[in-house]
Amino acid sequence: MFTRLPEDAPVITFTLNGTPTTARAGDTVMAALLANGALVARQSPVSGEPRGAYCMMGVCFECLVTIDGVGSRQGCLVTVADGMRVETGGRRRQLGASP
Ligand code: FES
Repeated sequence: MFTRLPEDAPVITFTLNGTPTTARAGDTVMAALLANGALVARQSPVSGEPRGAYCMMGVCFECLVTIDGVGSRQGCLVTVADGMRVETGGRRRQLGASP
């Protein structure tokens, strides 16, 4: 169904929720997650329902993840990098609660 372009891009390693994971150089973070079977980027702050990438072009904000400790980054707009730390499953924080 999908074809990676270019197919000979170098393989890089990043961590997904603390687990070493591979991606192709040039992939966006969300493309790398999808290629590794990670469909859920975050949870809805209202209902807690799992949410995942929808548009893959920066419009829907369904792909928010934490990248290198910075939350609410759009995974579809950030190119994955070697050694990058990506965390999924972010939820709404409570005022006064520790992160
Ligand atoms: S998937 Fe829609 S903004 Fe990233």
